[in-house]
Amino acid sequence: MTNLSAPLPRIALVATGGTIAGAGAEGEPSAAYQAAVIGADDLIARVPQLARLAQLQTEQLLQIDSADFTDDKLLTLARRVATLCDREDVDGVVITHGTDTMEESAYFLHLTVNSAKPIVVTGAMRPGTALAADGPANLVHAVAVAAHPSTQGRGVLVVMNEEIHSARDVAKVHAMRLDAFASPHGALGLVVEGVPRWYRQVARPHTTQSEFDITTLGALPLVGVVAGHAGMRAEVFDAWVAMGARAIVYAGVGGGTVPAYLLDHLTALRERGVWLVRATRTGAGPVIRNANAQDDAHDWIVTDDQSPPKARLLSALALTRHVDTTAFQQVFYRY
Ligand code: SIN
Repeated sequence: MTNLSAPLPRIALVATGGTIAGAGAEGEPSAAYQAAVIGADDLIARVPQLARLAQLQTEQLLQIDSADFTDDKLLTLARRVATLCDREDVDGVVITHGTDTMEESAYFLHLTVNSAKPIVVTGAMRPGTALAADGPANLVHAVAVAAHPSTQGRGVLVVMNEEIHSARDVAKVHAMRLDAFASPHGALGLVVEGVPRWYRQVARPHTTQSEFDITTLGALPLVGVVAGHAGMRAEVFDAWVAMGARAIVYAGVGGGTVPAYLLDHLTALRERGVWLVRATRTGAGPVIRNANAQDDAHDWIVTDDQSPPKARLLSALALTRHVDTTAFQQVFYRY
């Protein structure tokens, strides 16, 4: 029950761009628009319901299409969210973000922001000018979740389309529909009548339990991702090595199977010190160590069930601390 005399929670809203801040010509099809053009203050001015949920402090940290997120921008975002969470006059943080790389930023925050305060990422599949725009409802739900006391300590959440997902699991799985986000093990909860209703707990460590500390980190170690497909070529791995990659996540076919014709090449790369991290391109399910590749013999790492883009981030964080095979592998089993 809401206590009407209690002061409203103080939520910091950090805007970074994306379709939720997009605009097109009124009446045009919703795919014809420009992302990242509406400012944070205009965004909330269009949703008066927010004022009943929280005292909002807005800031425009970035104004970009989320495809333009670089590791430097990710570090900037994580540091800013950590600073806001440390403040006594902030009870929670909502981040508006483009949906295309939302799961990556959310996961990075989940692993690096040392706070139990609610941190919620949201966005929109349609700009505000579209018929049946989803941004206003997503924003109201994100603020409602961030403002609710039951959200404490659940790690970073993605709230989209009335669902509450853990940053660890969520992925954008559809390019167009409003129900574009899904988690292989299911959402943590739903927003029901404007209130979070929880159905699952997060099992893996995050935020306050995470070992990763980016406060003094100048840059993330470079980790590449190579897509697996029939007819794939060894030279793509070489390109990452030439750029200085310390590890390459192989988004492999099936259970992360490496083509037999690449084995010698990848063995030689490992001998030069480059880690190979086997993932699956299927979108769900674990890659099992020593099952369909001899990981012990090759000194490779498997991702458990982590997606290739998130495995890139977890590998980069692991390489800020761990150097031996056992420790690197354990990071994927732990997180
Ligand atoms: C973006 O990711 O910035 C554009 C697409 C979107 O937000 O849905």
